[in-house]
Amino acid sequence: MSTIESVLKETRSFAPIDAFRQNATLSGMEAYNTVCERANNDYEGFWADLARELLSWHKPFTRTFDGSNAPFFKWFDDGLLNVSYNCLDRHLDQHGDKTAIIFESDDGQSTPISYRSLYEQVCQFANGLKKLGVEKGDRVVIYMPMTVQAVIAMQACARIGAIHSVVFGGFSAGALRDRIIDAGAKIVITANEGMRGGKTVPLKATVDEALDAGGCDSVEKVIVQKRTAGNTPMGARDIGWDELTAGLPLDCEPTWVEADHPLFILYTSGSTGKPKGIQHSSAGYLLGAANSFRWAFDYKPDDVFWCTADVGWITGHTYICYGPLAMGATQVVFEGVPTYPDASRFWSMIERHKVTTFYTAPTAIRSLIKLGADLPKQFDLSSLRLLGTVGEPINPEAWMWYYEVVGGGRCPIVDTWWQTETGSAMIAPMPGAVATKPGSCTLPLPGIMADIVDESGAPVELGNGGFLVIKRPFPSLVRTIWNDADRFRKTYFPDEFNGQYYLAGDSAHRDEDGYFWIMGRIDDVLNVSGHRLGTMEIESALVANPLVAEAAVVGKPHEVKGEAVVAFVVLKGPRPTGEEARKIAAELKSWVAHEIGKIAQPDDIRFGENLPKTRSGKIMRRLLRSIAKGEEITQDTSTLENPQILDQLQEPA
Ligand code: WTA
Repeated sequence: MSTIESVLKETRSFAPIDAFRQNATLSGMEAYNTVCERANNDYEGFWADLARELLSWHKPFTRTFDGSNAPFFKWFDDGLLNVSYNCLDRHLDQHGDKTAIIFESDDGQSTPISYRSLYEQVCQFANGLKKLGVEKGDRVVIYMPMTVQAVIAMQACARIGAIHSVVFGGFSAGALRDRIIDAGAKIVITANEGMRGGKTVPLKATVDEALDAGGCDSVEKVIVQKRTAGNTPMGARDIGWDELTAGLPLDCEPTWVEADHPLFILYTSGSTGKPKGIQHSSAGYLLGAANSFRWAFDYKPDDVFWCTADVGWITGHTYICYGPLAMGATQVVFEGVPTYPDASRFWSMIERHKVTTFYTAPTAIRSLIKLGADLPKQFDLSSLRLLGTVGEPINPEAWMWYYEVVGGGRCPIVDTWWQTETGSAMIAPMPGAVATKPGSCTLPLPGIMADIVDESGAPVELGNGGFLVIKRPFPSLVRTIWNDADRFRKTYFPDEFNGQYYLAGDSAHRDEDGYFWIMGRIDDVLNVSGHRLGTMEIESALVANPLVAEAAVVGKPHEVKGEAVVAFVVLKGPRPTGEEARKIAAELKSWVAHEIGKIAQPDDIRFGENLPKTRSGKIMRRLLRSIAKGEEITQDTSTLENPQILDQLQEPA
C-alpha cells in the first residue's frame, strides 16, 4: 500500500452529488470560481469583507494588510477584538441554549454543554487565572487530557489576552520542560490524570517531573483539574481547579486585544533538533479558522460536527477550540481512543450523536479498516453528510473505503491539506463545487494562492514535482517563531524564493486539472500517524543515552502509520548482535519514549560499527532510507569508507 505509487495510478473522479451541491454554501464550480476571481482581483478587499462578515470587532479595523516589514506581515492591525467573545458571548442572545459541546468521556458517558454554560465556565476560570495574577501577554502552558476543561482553559486564556501553549498529553516530561522554558510560562494547567482507552495517564506527575528537573523558574503556579479519583499529591505550587474557581463570578469582561496580539504558541517539529514555537495572531487566525470551517465543511447551523484530533495539535486548536465555536456550531468532543472499548467506537458515536460531519486522520481510517472493515455496516451512519481527512496523504484504497463504507457513497470526502503554520485549511475541495479524486487534496480555498515551484521560485509545468508554496500572505499564516524571528524568516521565506513566497516544506505536483497531489516533506520531518516528528529530535534523544555514540533516523513506509521511525545506531561499546542487540534496542525504544513521548519511539533499530558517510563526513541518508525500506542499494557507494557496514545495517536487531 505505497501511497505514492497508488496515487500515481489514480484516475477516478467524483463530482458532488446533486442533493449535496444544491444545498451547499458554495454550490457548483461557477460559484467557486466567482469567489476565487474576487480574491484574485481584489485580494485585500476579499479578506476585509470576510473579516467584517465573520468576526465581531470591538474597534473596527481601517487597515487590512501591512506588508512593509515582510515577512512579518500584519492583518487588520488597528482593530481590536477578543477571540473568546467571538466564540461565546456573541452567540448567547440568540443561541445561548444551543449545545456547544457534546462531551463523551473515555468510559462512554456523554454530557451536553450549552453555549451559555460554556461561557460561564470559561468566564469563571478566566477569573481564576486573573486571581493568580495572569495578565495580557503572559504565557500559560496547558498539558491536559481531551476534556472540555482543555477547551475551557484555552478559551479562558484568550478571554484575558494570555497566550496559551498547549502541549500534547503524550509528550514526556523532557519535551514538556523544553516548551515551558522556551515559552517562559507563568502558569501550567494540567489534570491529576487523564483517561485513555481505559488506562490512566499520569499528567500531574509528569508536570512535577518537568518542573523538578529545574530551569522552569518562570512558573508560579500549577492548576490541577481533578479528572479521576486517583490520589495525586499536591505541593506548595499546586492549586486545584475547583478550589481556584469556587465562588468566582460567572462573567468576566473580555480583554480587548490588537488583531495581531498572539493568541497562542504551538510547538511543532522542524529540521533542527529544537521544536519551533509557531506563533499565531488573534484576528487573522480566527478568521481562517471560522471561514475554512464554514467552507470546507459546508457548515450548517444544525450540523453535529466531530473532529477527532487532540487539542495538543493544530487540528484540535482550529477545528475544535476555535473554528466551530466561532461559527456557533454543535460539536462532539471525545476524550478516548478509536479502539476502546472496541474498534467500533467511532461508528457507535456517530450513530448515537447523529454526527453529520466527521473529520479524522488517514492513519485512524487505515487502522479501523484493519480492525474491522465491515464494522461500520452494523451502525446507522445515515446522519453523515460530509467526511474529512487531515494530517497526511490518504491512500486511494483507504479513501474509497471511507467514501463507500462509512459515507455510503453519499458524502463528499474533504481531504484538507494544511499545517500548524498555516493555521487553517489551505487546499481542500469545496464540497459542493469541486469534484474529488482519491488521494488528492484538489484545489485551494478561495483566497489561497498555492502553487508549485522549482528551486529558483519559477512555476513548474503541470505534472512535474516541486516545492509547494503560497504566493501571498493570508490572514491565518504564522506570524513568527516565538523567540526566533530569524529562524522564521530563513525557514519559511528563504532568499532563494526572493523572500516572497511562503515555503510550506512539502513537495507536490499538479495533474492536468490543476489538482494538487502532496508527495511528502522536503525537510527531515517525518509524519508518523499524522504526527510531525523531526528526525533530529529523535537523534538527539538517542545520543543523549549513555550507551550511544551516534545515531541517524529516517522514515520508512508503514501500512497503518503512513511512516515509521527507523534508527541506525552506533554504540560507544562494540556493536551488539543477537540477544544483546535485541535487549539494547528495546532499552533505546523506551528511552526515546521517555525523552520525547511514545509517538517518537522507533519501530526498528539497527546497529552498525559506523554510519555510511561521504568523505566529508556527511551521513548518506538516502542510502539509509533505502536500507530501511529493504530496497536493493542502487546508489553509488564507492565513496564510502567501509562498505561492509551496509551489511551490518541491513540486519534488524
Ligand atoms: C502533512 C496538520 C497530505 C504535510 C494539519 C504537512 C498532509 C504536515 C495533509 C503538517 C494532507 C497535512 N495531505 N499531507 N491532507 N495534511 N499533511 O503541522 O506534510 O501537524 O506539511 O499540521 O502534514 O503537519 P501539522
